[in-house]
Amino acid sequence: MNYINKLFIAGIVLLFLACGNDQNSSSGDASSNVVEVDLTGNDKMQFNLKSIVASEGDVIKVNFMNIGKMPKNVMGHNFVLLKEGVNVADFASKALKAKENDYIPEDELSNIIVHSKMLGPGENEIITFNAPSKGIYKFVCSFPGHYITMQGDLIIK
Ligand code: CO
Repeated sequence: MNYINKLFIAGIVLLFLACGNDQNSSSGDASSNVVEVDLTGNDKMQFNLKSIVASEGDVIKVNFMNIGKMPKNVMGHNFVLLKEGVNVADFASKALKAKENDYIPEDELSNIIVHSKMLGPGENEIITFNAPSKGIYKFVCSFPGHYITMQGDLIIK
């Protein structure tokens, strides 16, 4: 084997190691169980999932994608996970006034566990977070009117 080939193989090995390390560091704790889900939003104002189930201590990785074709300003989608007990309709009525901030109201941030950006057609975002404590949490799209059909439960066992 010549020198160039050895360098090439060493490069590939390093790349693998780098990728492996990256995955571990993103979960924070190598022993955490990672729950990965693919969540989509479409032009009919629907999420593909009604619920996401995980356990306390899990790392949850939501691969969220807007699979619609309509423009973001009329059919944008986001993923907003609310703290337990937050009234979805109340939250949504405040969110619809927060157009300048992609419908995430600044004064409601204390009621949000995690949220994505507002996604336009074909866009995606991976949202990674630690499972909250045992309970049932609502996730919604906060685009005006969407919460009525775009809501689901994050169930932590
Ligand atoms: Co939406």
